[in-house]
Amino acid sequence: MNNNIKAIGVMTSGGDAPGMNAAIRAVVRRALTKGIKVYGIHQGYKGLLENEFFEMTSKDVAETIQRGGTILQTARCIEFKQPRYQEIAAWNCRAAGIDGMVVIGGDGTFRGAQALCNQGINTVAIPGTIDLDIACTDYTIGFDTAVNTAMEAIDKIKDTSTSHKRCSIIEVMGRHAGYIGLWCGIANGAEEVLLPERYNYDEQKVIEHIKKCLEVGKKHFIIINAEGVGDSLNMARRVEEATGLETRATVLGHIQRGGSPTCKDRVYASAMGAMAVDLLTEGKSNRVVAYREGMFVDYDIDVALAMEKDIDSFLLDVFKSLTAW
Ligand code: ADP
Ligand code: F6P
Repeated sequence: MNNNIKAIGVMTSGGDAPGMNAAIRAVVRRALTKGIKVYGIHQGYKGLLENEFFEMTSKDVAETIQRGGTILQTARCIEFKQPRYQEIAAWNCRAAGIDGMVVIGGDGTFRGAQALCNQGINTVAIPGTIDLDIACTDYTIGFDTAVNTAMEAIDKIKDTSTSHKRCSIIEVMGRHAGYIGLWCGIANGAEEVLLPERYNYDEQKVIEHIKKCLEVGKKHFIIINAEGVGDSLNMARRVEEATGLETRATVLGHIQRGGSPTCKDRVYASAMGAMAVDLLTEGKSNRVVAYREGMFVDYDIDVALAMEKDIDSFLLDVFKSLTAW
């Protein structure tokens, strides 16, 4: 069924994430095979306000599935939070003949998608963020690549940390979400993880843990510190002073956002892109594509945004039990 959708728009918004190109490619090619025109919109909601639309062909997405970043570019557009700018965006969509929008981004982007729906534009959102912090889904585009990038970097730091018998504090991304931190904590066999959802800033407890580990003969002490806790450079100075163990801090930063997407990010992003087009052609709107309990599913945006996500307490418990010596 094609509920008379003749043209759709696609854009990426918020922080970029590896795999976004696979999703864009899937949206473009799935729509074209259904006889639907596709307009790419540059730089997310900013491009929507500035009429940055261009018609996309199948060739425009050739050789993009393996590329990091987003070929449509992305932006943070503060004005779009105001209803009068949302009205302009909806007006621009209608003027361009767009009857459906696919927006790819994090929960901020989802709020923008909800606003577009409220302005009468059929919209479907796809979760794209390295943070894995969207409550309705077990998978977000980019997390798998980012966490593997971080894991590989931390393995390298661990080598030198062990050789010198040092403490290494490695700061990973996640201003509000500790998923990258927790997964690296387990995958890299770290001694400590400091997560924004749980850390109570009891540094003395961390120091006592380091001392205990030195007593039992550990050759390094790896702390994965999430960006939301931050302050890694100063923390390194304080830890060294308190423990006598040489301590170095490394902030991994934006290296985690770039790079060629993993197989999982390419495949899941492709599935989500195709599904978003299918939802629009089935006449659905105000939906979020998600991956839950092993299946691609969709939720009402309002329901999805009302859900809350905490750090996975079972994984945290697993981390704690596996770090004990
Ligand atoms: P992410 O999508 O990665 O969470 P942001 O939180 O920066 O990133 O949001 C991306 C963009 O989504 C913002 O720059 C803004 O244009 C739009 N947006 C965010 N929150 C809202 C909101 N409450 N209402 C409308 N648009 C929003
Ligand atoms: O949301 C993705 C993310 O990489 C967060 O982990 C991080 O806190 C933030 O974006 C960084 O944003 P910016 O690129 O604007 O510094």
